[in-house]
Amino acid sequence: MNVDAQPFVAPIPDRLAAIGTAGAPWTSILDARELPEGSTRRVTFGDLDILIAHTTRGMVAIDDRCPHMSAPLSLGELDGCIIGCPLHQGRFDLATGDVVQMPTTGGLDADGTYHPVWTPGGREPKEDPPGRKAEARRLTRVRRLRYYPVRIVEGTIEIAIPGPTP
Ligand code: FES
Repeated sequence: MNVDAQPFVAPIPDRLAAIGTAGAPWTSILDARELPEGSTRRVTFGDLDILIAHTTRGMVAIDDRCPHMSAPLSLGELDGCIIGCPLHQGRFDLATGDVVQMPTTGGLDADGTYHPVWTPGGREPKEDPPGRKAEARRLTRVRRLRYYPVRIVEGTIEIAIPGPTP
């Protein structure tokens, strides 16, 4: 990491802007020096929890909810531009919005393709036991990440937050 480099903002992946962010008012969040590369911060506005991450590809802001079962990604690990979820080990590329590793419980991806429950290498594939719980896992969809516009103004990180600001 180059500590002298100026922080920059990563572009929002195509069609992954959060609903209501176009034209939303900018809200000052924190001094960019408080969020060095490799770090994350959770900020809350009403019932909206947002994760700001300073990745190797720039700063991004997304819902602080795993697109699998809503665990706070701010409790996960950021590695470059990949964030890992602490709950079922799903991994997501914050630069592209892509799933890098499906959650261990399997389920549907955003397009509806089924992914089986994860099985350790060299073992027979695990089978979902019958029942409503397994059915719920099988039909749980890993949704797409949604992004909030970010900018840095005179060293302060600002995010476009939809709706009334506190
Ligand atoms: S809630 Fe994040 S991987 Fe399941």
